[in-house]
Amino acid sequence: MIERRIGSGGFGVVYEAWDGRLERAVAVKAIEQHGSGGDERVLREAQAAARLNHPGIVTLYEMGEEDGSALLVSELVEGSTLARLAGEDALSDREIGEIGADLCEALDHAHSRGVIHRDIKPQNVQVVDGQPRAKLMDFGIASITDAAGLTATGDVIGTLAYMSPEQAEGLEAGPEADVYSLALTLYECWSGENPHRRGNAVATVRSIGRRARSLHRLRPDLPRGLTEEIDACLDPRPDRRPTLEEVGTAIEDSLDLLADHPAGQTRHVGLRVAAIGLAAAVGAVLVLGHGLVLP
Ligand SMILES: Nc1ncnc2c1ncn2[C@@H]1O[C@H](COP(=O)(O)OP(=O)(O)OP(=O)(O)O)[C@@H](O)[C@H]1O
Ligand SMILES: [Mg+2]
Repeated sequence: MIERRIGSGGFGVVYEAWDGRLERAVAVKAIEQHGSGGDERVLREAQAAARLNHPGIVTLYEMGEEDGSALLVSELVEGSTLARLAGEDALSDREIGEIGADLCEALDHAHSRGVIHRDIKPQNVQVVDGQPRAKLMDFGIASITDAAGLTATGDVIGTLAYMSPEQAEGLEAGPEADVYSLALTLYECWSGENPHRRGNAVATVRSIGRRARSLHRLRPDLPRGLTEEIDACLDPRPDRRPTLEEVGTAIEDSLDLLADHPAGQTRHVGLRVAAIGLAAAVGAVLVLGHGLVLP
């Protein structure tokens, strides 16, 4: 029984519903399909996604069809998306690290079972209420939506901006594509910006082909071992990117060094310190210059 609409994304509408038979609250996502309902590949992907069983992955319970729409029934997670929390500057550097470590473990679980996510982005990470614990949503959905095509109203740029260069070129996405998108998601949380997002889809895709500004340069105050690992994940060549295990270890190793106040505050303080330093230097030069001209 549908109870309320939770939200909508590029591909469909999500509702909170009550499963009367098993007496549990569930999330139902309805994806409009364009004549590709019986696609076997879609079914295989959904079956693989449903076999994933990990605390860092939103469990897919069931898949059905109604009036040409695919209905995906999954675990309901009370919380907010990482996109929303990062946008509100609600997370500390350390909380972002803890979420990142969770996501590495969850993804590793999926990859070891041959399931690639293909659409990792802050909107597909649900942060559990009151905890820095994260769950990946929409596993296997990229294949269904490939078949359905992006709707005109969808947030196309929001999806493109996290896409690996190989996906943007239309090539098959392997585990390395997920590593790239996960790293870009964390890069954005720590730096406050997505380096590839532009005002339109064409400019965004064009930017994906170029290397992003290094996180190490944007946040020199973060542990170098961490920022360099994230930067390495953004290598345009998939075979040069670190493994999930390597990224996970780099994050875990730096957790104790990460600040526990909101990341935005640290970024602003960093900028302010730089600005004060610059002002002091300019002042000193002026005073010195003054002294020289007017002895
Ligand atoms: N299992 C779930 N439990 C709780 N909330 C959910 C669940 N699945 C989705 N949501 C919420 O529903 C909203 C819409 O999700 P949806 O996946 O449709 O959008 P999206 O991720 O922005 O786009 P896309 O279609 O590209 O995945 C999000 O705000 C998300 O928090
Ligand atoms: Mg989603």
